[in-house]
Amino acid sequence: MAESVSVLLTEQEVDKRIQELGEQISKDYEGKQVHLICILKGGSMFLCELAKRITLPVSLDFMSVSSYGKDMTSSGVVKIVKDLDDPIKDKHVIVVEDIVDSGRTLSYLLEMLGKREPASIAICTLLDKPERRVTDVKVDYTGFQIPDEFVVGYGLDYDQRYRNLPYIGIVHLDE
Ligand code: IMP
Ligand code: MG
Repeated sequence: MAESVSVLLTEQEVDKRIQELGEQISKDYEGKQVHLICILKGGSMFLCELAKRITLPVSLDFMSVSSYGKDMTSSGVVKIVKDLDDPIKDKHVIVVEDIVDSGRTLSYLLEMLGKREPASIAICTLLDKPERRVTDVKVDYTGFQIPDEFVVGYGLDYDQRYRNLPYIGIVHLDE
């Protein structure tokens, strides 16, 4: 089965929005240091671009959780593949995600990270598909709300491909 990709959000639109998010976070956390936790691999490009636009002291850490493989729907099972390197106790944590879909991944992560006693914990996602939500997860910073389509680019993949696209595209499967 082949597929094609059409543009949903251009590189310029994404860049502009990340700049705005960086400014907002810098304002909201004024006088503090923020600890950005990137959820690999999808959040990697967003994390880099966002971190560059935050004008406060920033530290970074990375976590990898199980993904869906080639399927386009959530299995509901979240597995930690790589845990954080550093403790988050007393830190102002911002979890940086590529996309919130069912919300299962973040619900699980928030509960787990909350037990490690951070000073605060917030979620920043580049994309949000609110129609697909099955859990009640509060997202603090959202780049774009998008329709219920499978998207790729800017870190997001379809079967590990398209992460390098500099824009957000919709995947169309050609039978
Ligand atoms: P959730 O647990 O259902 O919210 O799933 C979140 C994760 O599923 C994201 O971090 C992505 O890795 C993946 N995902 C969900 N929707 C898409 C999509 O449209 N394109 C690519 N990956 C997606
Ligand atoms: Mg992800």
